[in-house]
Amino acid sequence: MMKPWGYSGQAMGGPADTHVMPMGDEAIAEAVRLVLAGEPVAVPTETVYGLAADATNPKAVARIYAAKGRPAFNPLIVHVADLAGAERVGRFNDQARSLAEKHWPGPLTLVVPLRDGSGIASIVTAGLPTIALRVPAHPVMQSLLRACGRPLAAPSANASGLISPTRASHVLASLGGRIPLVIDGGATQRGIESTIVAATDGGLRLLRRGPIEVKASEVANPTAIEAPGQLVSHYAPTKPLRLDATAAEDSEYLIGFGPVAGDVSLSEQGDPVEAAARLFDLLHQADAAPNPRIAIAPVPGGGIAAAIRDRLKRAAAPRK
Ligand code: TXA
Ligand code: MG
Repeated sequence: MMKPWGYSGQAMGGPADTHVMPMGDEAIAEAVRLVLAGEPVAVPTETVYGLAADATNPKAVARIYAAKGRPAFNPLIVHVADLAGAERVGRFNDQARSLAEKHWPGPLTLVVPLRDGSGIASIVTAGLPTIALRVPAHPVMQSLLRACGRPLAAPSANASGLISPTRASHVLASLGGRIPLVIDGGATQRGIESTIVAATDGGLRLLRRGPIEVKASEVANPTAIEAPGQLVSHYAPTKPLRLDATAAEDSEYLIGFGPVAGDVSLSEQGDPVEAAARLFDLLHQADAAPNPRIAIAPVPGGGIAAAIRDRLKRAAAPRK
């Protein structure tokens, strides 16, 4: 079978003006040049590919929203090189600081009060008095942050409402022709977006499940929808998706897991970490298959398996 996701922008039918560069010094230098000129660039992180722009430049950030077609009320995650950089723009209480020290650099985003005079463009936070901050572990994003010397706003590098990209080819398929550069760092290691925890007043609230499991005793579940990304329909493939399937029906493309074989498998061994890393890639493949419908096997368990089910529930919700 031909691989549904090819390599170059042109081979993908994408326009020639989105350049794909393999990760390395040359790609970083080009990305720095573009970011400082106010352009958004797609870069790998350990979770998913992000579309990064200078968080202090409102025009640059507006180009992220424009490229993604993202509703302007949805605030963006700001990436910084280290905790010191995070403390320059956000206010950390003891609980937030200890989570940051434990998990950064890594796939944890902390929502904290925005510091006065932070220099962050208000379009980034969509006018909220809080800011979502993350110190990514991926060497490409780390190098870019250090070389640019400023915070970078970066949502997932996909058109709004679609599946997050875990490969450069996914970025091209979604945003080809709308952004100048994609740095290709291969498949991302974690495969799903960061865990989001709010530390805005007393206590911690889990806003989005993700690769980092925060103990229930540490975190109360939110009572209201706080992160706009928690809206029910999100991360959606373009075809109908049926959950908890043990066999394909009605010419469905079946994504298996463990004992459920399927056309492809999230993890034949039933390993939820492997499943998370492959999840969006296989949803993209299923979307590109000739079958009109997608079905996916149950992914039981807590922790990252629950984070996977959370994404699948959203992916299966009817589109508004
Ligand atoms: O792994 C990730 O987090 C990736 C990579 C690129 O870092 N980024 C990512 O960003 O998933 P995005 O923009 O697709 O998701 C950001 C989420 C959204 O659900 C948004 O509503 C929420 O973070 N968010 C951002 N700022 C917030 C704030 N001040 N309060 C509450 N939620 C916020
Ligand atoms: Mg996203």
